[in-house]
Amino acid sequence: MTKTRTVVVLAAGEGKRMKSALPKVLHPLLGRSLLGHVLAAAAPLRPDRTLVVVGHGAEAVTAHLAEIAPEANPVVQPEQRGTGNAVRIALDAVPEVDGTVVVLNGDVPLLRPETVAGLVEAHEAAGAAATVLTAEVADPTGLGRIVRAADGRIARIVEERDASPEERQIREINAGIYAFEASRLRAVLGNLSTDNDQGEEYLTDVFGLLAADGQPIAAHVAADATETLGCNDRVELAALRRLLRDRINERWMRAGVTITDPETTWIDVTVTLARDVVIDPNTQLKGTTTVAEGATVGPDVTLIDTTVGARATVVRSHVIGAEVGPEASVGPYAYLRPGTRLARQVKVGTFVETKNADIGVGTKVPHLSYVGDATIGEHTNIGAATVFVNYDGVNKHRTVIGSHARTGADNMFVAPVTIGDGAYTAAGSVIVKDVPPGALGVARGQQRNIEGWVSRRRPGTAAAEAAERALQRAAAARANDGAGDAEAAQSEPVHDQGGHPNDQLVARDTHIA
Ligand code: UD1
Ligand code: CA
Repeated sequence: MTKTRTVVVLAAGEGKRMKSALPKVLHPLLGRSLLGHVLAAAAPLRPDRTLVVVGHGAEAVTAHLAEIAPEANPVVQPEQRGTGNAVRIALDAVPEVDGTVVVLNGDVPLLRPETVAGLVEAHEAAGAAATVLTAEVADPTGLGRIVRAADGRIARIVEERDASPEERQIREINAGIYAFEASRLRAVLGNLSTDNDQGEEYLTDVFGLLAADGQPIAAHVAADATETLGCNDRVELAALRRLLRDRINERWMRAGVTITDPETTWIDVTVTLARDVVIDPNTQLKGTTTVAEGATVGPDVTLIDTTVGARATVVRSHVIGAEVGPEASVGPYAYLRPGTRLARQVKVGTFVETKNADIGVGTKVPHLSYVGDATIGEHTNIGAATVFVNYDGVNKHRTVIGSHARTGADNMFVAPVTIGDGAYTAAGSVIVKDVPPGALGVARGQQRNIEGWVSRRRPGTAAAEAAERALQRAAAARANDGAGDAEAAQSEPVHDQGGHPNDQLVARDTHIA
């Protein structure tokens, strides 16, 4: 018969010192909740069942569990009468359970899977009734102490508030992670007293009871004491976050990622990076983000649930739910929102916002634009300061722009509207009608100049005086030309010969390259 393994996570406490509306175990820590980290550490045990004791904020914790670990079963502890009470209620819910019961406090998120596995293997190999994970720490304040007998074997665990002054000197602490043999655990759980400073049933008292009964109990010392750190307030949460950040960054650097400034680089445990990725300072990579080989991200970038292709660059930008293609370039100062898909070699430049936008190979949106609900083909250039007017106040509409199009600066595309392949639009146009392939769409008023307006309407101003001087210079130049010598004719201004390029409304007018 193979031994069954049951995991019990204790997550019913309020976490008073967090001073939060959110239950403590739901506080986020680099990609997972505290509870999510603990469950992830236990997952490689391949438990036959996982029970999570919930109480404070039970509804929120249960909803979160359904999302992150649907196979886990919540068990409600109606009143938080201590960790022993919590385990008793959990085991009462599964009377058939035998084999190994692994108990984990829900607020010990830095625990490594290997450490939990090591504890369970040592426990099962020794045939112990109970085994506790311990650590030697410099400052054991607030933690349960491991009291050992003269022969070095563990005798009992004492909470700091119930400990004698000598016991408080002990620096070996209880990490709050245990393995038990189910039947022997059940046998003593009913005998826990509440005769302690908190009037609670302490799970830790199981050790003293089993020892007194002559049952074999053991301690498994964690190699890395930082793994056993709990989280009781937000200062500790920040300290855990820094430790986890360093652990994650070190792992990626050893895997071939350059992290220029590890102290300002925050990578969720759920992120995937390839070799030769460069992460520049002040960068956060979150959620399901993946970055492919040779891409550069940062400085000052946040990527959330985003895919970055090989050799792409993202600089000083905020990106959420987007796909950035290989060799694409984003930023500085871009905001890419969900549904943005940039193909290979796309450029999305400065002060550009995109949303639900499919942008084809080599297309450029270089400056000051909003691209919402759009499909743009390949090798198209979108002029500066373009707005895709996607919202009529009630519904959103799509703009479709073809390949090799050149749209003018300061355009509005009032969706739904389609611009054909190879089409141009004139600068300053409000495009409300489709532009066929190869056509030039012009939608703007004609310019007229009212001569002398400033000197009539703004007399005596600096503008009027400057205009006066310029007009006098022009008149003097004309008088010189009138002398008729050949040299003067050569220096005639271009616009006097063939007119301004805009008169023909040629391509040069229609966009900023
Ligand atoms: C506990 C241990 C202590 C150990 C420390 C490690 C006991 C009595 N003490 O102390 O020896 O050094 O963890 O971090 O176990 N919980 C419930 N129901 C309850 C009470 C608590 O589910 O009725 C849960 C909490 O949500 C938490 C965990 O059990 O996740 C531990 O409870 P907490 O109050 O934080 O125990 P500590 O005082 O830290
Ligand atoms: Ca605790």
